[in-house]
Amino acid sequence: MRVTLVRGPTPEGKTWTQSYDLLDLTGASVSNVLQYISRHIDGGVAYYLSCRRGLCAACVVRLEGRNEKACVVLAYDGIVIEPTQERLMIKDSVVHLGMPRESEYDTFGAAFRVGAGPGDD
Ligand code: FES
Repeated sequence: MRVTLVRGPTPEGKTWTQSYDLLDLTGASVSNVLQYISRHIDGGVAYYLSCRRGLCAACVVRLEGRNEKACVVLAYDGIVIEPTQERLMIKDSVVHLGMPRESEYDTFGAAFRVGAGPGDD
């Protein structure tokens, strides 16, 4: 099973793709696959989980151009997992879930700055 993640952002606000060849995880949710990668292959991969039952939408990722709850959608060979909005990326598929202030974006407005707050400009 091949899984591709859109990762980032870099300090310049850029993203990149990284692919993983996994054992067959048929029947596993997208969240399970992200968790497997993070725990067994690449501890630097970030993902977010909360209820694991499709109730809270904290785990939403973009799959084939549509926002989906990662904990209830099954992964498949060739899947590409993207953040819902690259502009709101904190890390990998984890995005800012609130309404960011203008000062929380980088100077080019391209990406969310982790740890930024009002008056940090
Ligand atoms: S973790 Fe709550 S909907 Fe997926």
